[in-house]
Amino acid sequence: MRIDIITLFPGMFKGPFEESMIGRARKKGLAEVHLHDLRRYAYDSRGTVDDAPFGGGAGMILKPEMIFAAVEDVSSSHGKVILLTPQGDKFSQPKAQELADEAHLIMICAHYEGVDERARQVLADVELSIGDYVLTNGNLAAMVVCDAVIRLIPGVLGSEESAGADSFSDPGRLDYPQYTRPAEFRNMKAPDVLLSGDHQKIRQWRSEQSLLRTLGRRPDLI
Ligand code: ADE
Repeated sequence: MRIDIITLFPGMFKGPFEESMIGRARKKGLAEVHLHDLRRYAYDSRGTVDDAPFGGGAGMILKPEMIFAAVEDVSSSHGKVILLTPQGDKFSQPKAQELADEAHLIMICAHYEGVDERARQVLADVELSIGDYVLTNGNLAAMVVCDAVIRLIPGVLGSEESAGADSFSDPGRLDYPQYTRPAEFRNMKAPDVLLSGDHQKIRQWRSEQSLLRTLGRRPDLI
């Protein structure tokens, strides 16, 4: 998969995109990520890319010309353009799975005040929000979406099973509790069933725990 990210702050992506799972996926050639500084598309020497909103109001709006130029520069016939804003559709595991099946994603990281509506209407195939809160801009949101998507690309995780067992991969259920060695720690014991070696009982216990947890914490999922 190829991902192009159009941003005012390419430096913000350095740590998260070089370390851990995304770093490994890039090294293995399973995810090719290109960062594009929106200011590079500015017309003036000051790198102006935003302006005050027509009609007045607080904040600055990203101008359309630079976003159009950047997207046209990196787009391909099969590229899906994603605009990150708090007004977008709520990002979710099923949406991550849909995006993981794409060959080319183009992400536009906007100011939180927004982008000129013409860029939104013409360029964006999808507008995504990562939750009902306002970030300073779309950069952290783009990192979240990239992380959730890239880990689903076949071959990125050690074993494909580990993505399949996640909370939300079954959209109606949260993960069951997990334990590892030691079996007893500060008088707290791992459940006997997990040490029993009886795989049918273990599956049943996990399924019950998963349901109980979901009912207790996120009944809205069921
Ligand atoms: N930009 C600012 N807040 C955001 C959010 N919650 N999701 C996506 N992009 C954003």
